[in-house]
Amino acid sequence: MKSIALMSEKGGTGKTTTLLNVAAGLARSGRKVLVVDADPQANATMVLTAGQGPGEGATLAEVMAGTSRADDALVVTAWEGVELLPASPNLAEVNLSLANELGRERRLRKAMEPLKSDYDIALVDTGPARSLLNVNVLNWVDQVVVPISPGLFSLAGLGQLQTAIDEVRTYLDNQNLALRGLVLTMCERTAVSMDVERQLRSLYEDLVFGTTIPRSVRVEESHSRFQSVFEHSPQSSAAKAYAALVEEILPYVERKTNRPGKRSGGTSATHDAA
Ligand SMILES: Nc1ncnc2c1ncn2[C@@H]1O[C@H](COP(=O)(O)OP(=O)(O)OP(=O)(O)O)[C@@H](O)[C@H]1O
Ligand SMILES: [Mg+2]
Repeated sequence: MKSIALMSEKGGTGKTTTLLNVAAGLARSGRKVLVVDADPQANATMVLTAGQGPGEGATLAEVMAGTSRADDALVVTAWEGVELLPASPNLAEVNLSLANELGRERRLRKAMEPLKSDYDIALVDTGPARSLLNVNVLNWVDQVVVPISPGLFSLAGLGQLQTAIDEVRTYLDNQNLALRGLVLTMCERTAVSMDVERQLRSLYEDLVFGTTIPRSVRVEESHSRFQSVFEHSPQSSAAKAYAALVEEILPYVERKTNRPGKRSGGTSATHDAA
């Protein structure tokens, strides 16, 4: 299983939106996708459970605490080919409760190990805060993708994130961790948006994905309908852009898992006790 975290130290840059639409796009391409919601805001969980939230079952908080196996916390979503390890608001407490525990930076890496042949790719949503939770994510995933929305302070925090990646590689277990790229989200045809894009491309060159995601009302509508933009508005500019971004990511997700896996494509999200 490959793994990509959507991460940025700045809030509201399009992490969750990008995660959801890339998840949907990869699933449409036949890949078996696991979404791991490592953001206590639980926005991805809300969309993927059609507004129901994680329910009574175990979530990533219990997995991190060691009181549930990751396998037992998985949720089937209404998005075909996409399963979910949900977040709940008490995930924020993990940062405190694990602070003095042994192996605190390795909890997620260890918990995900048994799932590694069950999915083609895990996509991890994260919150904008620097936290033990995010260190756990960095110590597990292969790659980090950073959404950037052009505007004032758009690059804020990128340096700290690069330092965090270096430190995880040096001091923790994940020596192969790489900054995969920067993706421009919510781009507009304004001078400031185009300026930032130009600057970013000349500064970071190949590190910037070729695709830029336009600002589109269709994206916000799709969230409120608990759909991907492909389902909500397949002809929109945002759907076309996300399809192009998925094409850029697909070569990294080359393998197809043979295992049929858990149920998928149900009409409602339920905890799968199977
Ligand atoms: N391409 C887009 N066009 C229009 N609105 C967008 C687009 N992408 C994201 N948004 C909106 O911008 C807001 C922030 O997006 P999103 O929640 O994906 O960011 P985030 O980085 O996950 O935020 P947080 O740091 O709070 O987790 C949301 O209201 C979302 O609907
Ligand atoms: Mg988010």
